Amino acid sequence: MTQKKKVLLSGIQPSGKLCIGNYIGALKNWVNLQDDYDSIFLIVDLHALTIKQVPSELRNRCMSFLAQYIACGINPEKNTIVIQSHVPEHAELTWVLNTLTYFGELNRMTQFKDKSKNNSSNINTGLFTYPVLMAADILIYQADLVPVGADQKQHLELSRNLAQRFNHNYSDTFPIPEPFIPKFGARIMSLQEPDKKMSKSDENENNFIALLDTPDIIMKKIKRAVTDSNTNIEYNQNRPGLANLLTLHSILTKGTIESSTMYFKGKMYSELKNELGEICVEYLRPIQDEYNKIIKDKGYLNKILKSGTEKARYKARRTLSKVYRKIGLVPFPR
Ligand code: TRP
Repeated sequence: MTQKKKVLLSGIQPSGKLCIGNYIGALKNWVNLQDDYDSIFLIVDLHALTIKQVPSELRNRCMSFLAQYIACGINPEKNTIVIQSHVPEHAELTWVLNTLTYFGELNRMTQFKDKSKNNSSNINTGLFTYPVLMAADILIYQADLVPVGADQKQHLELSRNLAQRFNHNYSDTFPIPEPFIPKFGARIMSLQEPDKKMSKSDENENNFIALLDTPDIIMKKIKRAVTDSNTNIEYNQNRPGLANLLTLHSILTKGTIESSTMYFKGKMYSELKNELGEICVEYLRPIQDEYNKIIKDKGYLNKILKSGTEKARYKARRTLSKVYRKIGLVPFPR
């Protein structure tokens, strides 16, 4: 008898441009895990609304992210890919979870504090309740495993607490989701400010390599990457710019930091940057080729959205009906 696969769920917010940091830190892991789990990958457009968006750009970006997920190797037949807003149960469960979440819990979220600092002209309540929507994303599918970056650990902790609280207040309903946090070394830093994480939403585009950047741009961005005023190549945490380039090199060549460091020992920064730039271009080429094929095929993309949403809604409805029944809402008469 085959055992039922565990449910894996993750998502990326469609803001900015998917970058090589997202690929190494998230998408590549999803691709590696997808066969072992019943996987759901979200494009969390409702989360993206917590920051002011240009409507036409948001719409295009969601479709582009869908095509990029597939181009990166997510198999849309074996897994479920959905745009969050296509499954209204996310928003419905969020409301119920809001009533179980304490103000103080959200007030402690470090990401909320950071985001309100960077976004001081628009500290909307969506930004504040963002982690509850994320908990709903996870719990609505009864997810067991959630791959996330270290910056999302606190949010995942809330999801776990809410699952436990609901189970305790009513009866066993939700599995307690486990985080899956990739090992150290998978963290790619900003090219211009190497002490912060590479971010797809960085306003300075020189900080990241987008998956869809042209070869010219990739070469330019890597050549401009900040290093330091030394000249020797070694791996040293106190030289974060250089360390980041060596890390990136080791990952893209499937080597180790030691092998990359040995390889460039005695060479110049310019040689490292040139080679790394070319490797990056070649690494992204198959993803870009695949992307260019599917982004034009609206019929194909819509078909994936339809089948993904159908599968997802079926599961989401089941969970939500259970929740509504347990908390005492009247079932709609049939
Ligand atoms: N908040 C996550 C991030 O910024 C994105 C996200 C939304 C997510 N819902 C999720 C991640 C559910 C994992 C599971 O990275």
